Amino acid sequence: MQPLRVLLLGGGGREHAIAWRLAQSPHLARLFAAPGNPGIAAHATLVPELDILDPDAVARWAQAQGIDLVVPGPEAPLVAGVADAVTARGIAVAGPSRAAARLEASKAFTKELCAEAGIPTARWARFDALAPALAYVRAQGAPIVVKADGLAAGKGVTVAATLAEAEAALARLVAQGLTPVVVEECLAGEEASFFVAAHGTTAVPLLAAQDHKRLGEGDTGPNTGGMGAVAPVTALTPETARRVMECIVRPTLQALAARGVEYRGILFAGLMLTEDGPRLLEWNVRLGDPEAQALMMLLESDLLELLWAVATGGLERMSLGWAPGRAIAVTVAARGYPAAPATGAEIGGLADCGATVFHAGTSLNAGRLVAAGGRVLTVAARAGTLREAAAQAYAAIERISFADAVFRRDIGWRELAREAP
Ligand code: AMP
Ligand code: GLY
Repeated sequence: MQPLRVLLLGGGGREHAIAWRLAQSPHLARLFAAPGNPGIAAHATLVPELDILDPDAVARWAQAQGIDLVVPGPEAPLVAGVADAVTARGIAVAGPSRAAARLEASKAFTKELCAEAGIPTARWARFDALAPALAYVRAQGAPIVVKADGLAAGKGVTVAATLAEAEAALARLVAQGLTPVVVEECLAGEEASFFVAAHGTTAVPLLAAQDHKRLGEGDTGPNTGGMGAVAPVTALTPETARRVMECIVRPTLQALAARGVEYRGILFAGLMLTEDGPRLLEWNVRLGDPEAQALMMLLESDLLELLWAVATGGLERMSLGWAPGRAIAVTVAARGYPAAPATGAEIGGLADCGATVFHAGTSLNAGRLVAAGGRVLTVAARAGTLREAAAQAYAAIERISFADAVFRRDIGWRELAREAP
């Protein structure tokens, strides 16, 4: 493998974790990150002026800088067509084309693909107008799930316990112009995030993780981007993982291929582990945040080699190594998150806190590190047991000074309850 010049897109905790691992690769010649953040700056040259949602600008910049590989972190640049523009200039990219990114951008697209390929998922229906949607939920009854079809940053989903809640959610989505809407059967079970690296119809599973999307302890309160994650997940047995690969991942990649779409990137299945087996809740076309931070604590193989194979082929020859034990990644958000996070509070004590800290929403203000976004830090640790990893991460959070810190103290509670005392 030749030494690679890499451009990483994004500036959150996930991207800091990716940058941290890429920087450890013997194959890395130079790392750039757009926009990056103060944590990523330890590993990369930041390019804050580059608009990562402008595919042509990204492709032109990458070509001018002799970039060999573009690594997109979030979905938005992919949905905007960054991979297509970069590929058109002959540069490798470890992320899917715009056509393939519809797996995340359109729930209806994914549902149609599931129907066609026989992929197990919740029953659903799609509506462009309020009246037929209301009639449908009244016929189905509660509990029922109401979603916006397109990207809504986690805010488009209502798991309605009552008919009244479902009706209100539908009315709100339609009033906000977030149509078409999707109405889904409510599945019961435990959720898991399942990741594969894919190139065409070749897919290599990574570890699965379990995220906590609700703001409050005990999984209550509003949905967020993710308040913390643990990996691996014992609730997802090796047998279930085989089933996910056979019944969900491979048929999806094949159905895309049949439409002339070759998937190149990380593919992330949001799963519900039901009594009747795993069901696909959603596809994401990227690593999760904060799942990536937990995974990067455990990955022993060279991340750059893996992403190069995702982009250019050779995945079938890769076997991934993972550290033994378990990892936890705890999101430290700012007071007011997710509705209206406070910014500007000074952050200190990161260097010697006793855990690995990834920056998410931070910035430098006259040389001082301050909060600049909803999710501010991810505090991550790995240990022989999840209990030890959690103890390490939470002790570290206590040592960090950040007056506006908001975090959950129960990250990994389901997995902790299953761990031998
Ligand atoms: P999504 O943005 O589609 O991942 O949905 C956000 C969250 O809503 C998921 O993480 C689940 O907790 C919940 N959810 C989505 N779809 C369903 C469903 N069909 N049944 C139960 N819960 C769901
Ligand atoms: N943590 C969930 C996600 O990244 O979508």
